[in-house]
Amino acid sequence: MNIPLSRVYIDDAIKQRILAAVDSQNYILGKECDAFEKELAAHTGVKHCVLSSSWTAAVHLLLLALKIKPGDEILVPSHTAFPSIEPIIHVGAKPIFMDVDESYTMDVNQIEAHLTPRTVGIMPVHLYGHPADIVRVKAIAQKRGLFWIEDCAQAHGATWNGGKVGSHGTFGAFSFFPSKNLTVFGDGGCITTNDPAIADRIRMLRNHGRKDKYIHELVGFNLRFNEIQAAVGREQLKHLDDFNAKRRQAVAWYRERLRDFHPVKLPIVREGCEPVYHMFVVQVENREGLAKHLKEKGIGTGVHYPVPNHKQPAITALYSDIPKLPVTERIVDRILSLPIFPALKEEEVDRVCQEIKSFYS
Ligand SMILES: Cc1ncc(COP(=O)(O)O)c(C=O)c1O
Repeated sequence: MNIPLSRVYIDDAIKQRILAAVDSQNYILGKECDAFEKELAAHTGVKHCVLSSSWTAAVHLLLLALKIKPGDEILVPSHTAFPSIEPIIHVGAKPIFMDVDESYTMDVNQIEAHLTPRTVGIMPVHLYGHPADIVRVKAIAQKRGLFWIEDCAQAHGATWNGGKVGSHGTFGAFSFFPSKNLTVFGDGGCITTNDPAIADRIRMLRNHGRKDKYIHELVGFNLRFNEIQAAVGREQLKHLDDFNAKRRQAVAWYRERLRDFHPVKLPIVREGCEPVYHMFVVQVENREGLAKHLKEKGIGTGVHYPVPNHKQPAITALYSDIPKLPVTERIVDRILSLPIFPALKEEEVDRVCQEIKSFYS
């Protein structure tokens, strides 16, 4: 692809930090991890951050720390990456699949109708880097005594009413997978929170339940983080705000060129939100035809996600009460992710838009 869907940022400073971490001969949960946790907490605006080996691992540990039990229900949008729901099922709870609204995030107007005496929490997903309506989620959750976890895997640095995602919820969960806005050149994730007791419990659970070196207070796991990747993450974090600004600039170029072009529906931005465009997702007619045309022209695209989670075979095999989610089921046939990454140039956006226009003409 000469214009890929996304591109990871690599520079010499990061390579030097990797070598320094190698030379330190201290590889797991050392100084780099401590510093990365502190810097992530400060950047998000919370007191605690706990690293783990992925978002999925971090949320699994969080749900265990919260003592979620079989039969508990957690509200989650169906239109998200499949891993968003896996930890819920692994702890024996049930994901209650919700529809999305035109911002591609949880339709908060439908929350009340989905609450039951078994509901323990809500997990809005800031999909594609656009914040879900966390203010409404928070109001309902607080009234009902529920926890709420912000799935920030695609939204590092996005804000709602000026506050960063990951700081509004009782908990935030981030992924550092290579395509994410903040990466560590491999898998990684973390939980952000102001709750010291839960943060401590996750710290213990990720490291074999250790209280200290030889005392295991809990039966835990090995879902730790490592120094080399923490060093990479610390360097990437220095650039995150600038990278997000560059993503927004690239989207502004797309919007200028596609604003009045009717075969393409552009994503909306909710008032009070500052999205970070992990993905730039448009809706189009004849998606497969357009994707094929762009591929022939060397332009990468993606579909996030073609099969909603409530229709995945793993889910229909588990539950008999599969809901109907009209918005989700309509958009999954129309959404297309266009190239977006901080180094994307205006002339590249121009080429993508010209090729889109030439396909429909
Ligand atoms: C919205 C969302 N939630 C959760 C995850 C899971 O993250 P990880 O791969 O770090 O476990 C991802 C990554 O694909 C994601 O995009």
